[in-house]
Amino acid sequence: MKTTIAVSTPAETESEALVAVVLDQSEPSTDAAQKDKKPNLKVATSDAAVQAVAADLLGSGEVSGKLFETNLQHKPAGLKAKRLLLISGGRAKKFSTYELRRIAGTAVRALKSRGIRTFAFVAPSGIPAEDGVRAIVEGAHVGNFDPDYYRSDRKDQKIDTLTVVASGDKAALEKAAGEAQIVGESQNFTRDLVNEPSNRMTPTILADRAKKMCAEVGLKCEVYGPEWIKAKKMGAFWSVAQGSDEPPAFIVMTYEPAGAPAKPVLGLVGKGITFDTGGISIKPADGMEKMKYDMAGGATMIGAMRAVALLKPKVKVVGIVCATENMPSGKAQKPGDVQIAMSGKSIEIINTDAEGRLVLADGLHYAKLLGCTHLVDAATLTGAVVVALGYNNAGIFTNDDNMYERIHKANEKAGEKMWRLPLDDEYKEQIRSSIADIMNTGGRWGGAITAAMFLKEFAEDTPWIHLDIAGTAWMEDQKPWIAKGPSGIALRSLVEFVKGFAG
Ligand code: BES
Ligand code: MN
Ligand code: ZN
Repeated sequence: MKTTIAVSTPAETESEALVAVVLDQSEPSTDAAQKDKKPNLKVATSDAAVQAVAADLLGSGEVSGKLFETNLQHKPAGLKAKRLLLISGGRAKKFSTYELRRIAGTAVRALKSRGIRTFAFVAPSGIPAEDGVRAIVEGAHVGNFDPDYYRSDRKDQKIDTLTVVASGDKAALEKAAGEAQIVGESQNFTRDLVNEPSNRMTPTILADRAKKMCAEVGLKCEVYGPEWIKAKKMGAFWSVAQGSDEPPAFIVMTYEPAGAPAKPVLGLVGKGITFDTGGISIKPADGMEKMKYDMAGGATMIGAMRAVALLKPKVKVVGIVCATENMPSGKAQKPGDVQIAMSGKSIEIINTDAEGRLVLADGLHYAKLLGCTHLVDAATLTGAVVVALGYNNAGIFTNDDNMYERIHKANEKAGEKMWRLPLDDEYKEQIRSSIADIMNTGGRWGGAITAAMFLKEFAEDTPWIHLDIAGTAWMEDQKPWIAKGPSGIALRSLVEFVKGFAG
């Protein structure tokens, strides 16, 4: 999608469709007598012609003002656009870039399904112009993605050109749009990887895609196979990989901009299980097809490295993906086996389905050996995080309050919801083993936490964040602003997080 900035009046903007946001100016009230109070709807623009053409509709009582409601008018009088699409953004008081991003996605999905290829979006008054442009361009990219790759009747409808109508310094707005486009394209790049089924996204293919991307954006990329993994004594990673006929891939992407200080070095480590059968502790058949997205954390790191390489923040970043299948076979590890991780820690395998923490154990340790001073991992790690937080928040776990502040700030800028869960020392008792240093599962309760406690054993004292994206990496249903399928969650936050270190 091409994005351009028009510093002009919305009414004068020629396009197939002009999109504007409608906000409810009425005060929220809990007073029962005021429950029936009509919304006070206004288009969020100072353009009098746009307000005039929307006035009858907004005053008709037919528009509720609820978030994502759409109303399309043809041949709007006084506008150069062929259509006016009004999208409601809920209460003006609550309206932020979070809603705006999703409204832009809604606009894309509403218009592309009507066969429209280009449109103009009016940056709403009330949000600083550069922030608004970023949210609109990112959200439009998210909306433009559809996962129906292998359908013979795939329409492949896409918006080709988006014009954001805004006021302000054109060069600054264009810079914001260009950066947002990089982020949006990188998020969709990640979603493309996650969307592929496991027969078309083996560890080798994932590594090839990473190599190709790195070559395109000028990143160093190293891919290591079984012999290297064994030689490095990555016993935790190998214990998962040994059961599969598909060779694993340990992917290392390096971004080292000229002029960056020697420290910090950020390490982004992703779980790259291209298919999780559970191994010998095999999963039930029902829903197992979903386990093709168990490499979403890894794909997020590959996409994040793409964005970082193009945005060029002055900070060193290393991206690591531990890619393998988790399969049952005559070579597969078995419950009760003891494995020695690269760090030297011994692990009693209780459940071979708790494989993500095993591959990440060696990924995190290796990141430290490479000199990373700050670590973030992203993983579809536990069903338990879905029990705890549902589909609307990813789980944050960290051993460092400053790291929490950084990721929380990044979440807010990026418009991604994540929620911190505890990591107290007491939880470690649940993964104590009688035969080895630790067990790879911690029993039924607090499963997302005990999984994170396991990872903490390998992050040790290095400031570290673990993002459990099991409930958020895949949209179970489509929404007005996003298709069903891979969400690309965490990529935008990670990019903001990295930028936060660049001064
Ligand atoms: N990949 C799964 C976690 C998962 C579950 C991701 C649902 C996405 C949706 C992970 O490898 C796994 O199997 N975890 C087990 C751990 C258990 C055996 C301790 C789980 O959550 O059941
Ligand atoms: Mn598993
Ligand atoms: Zn898994």
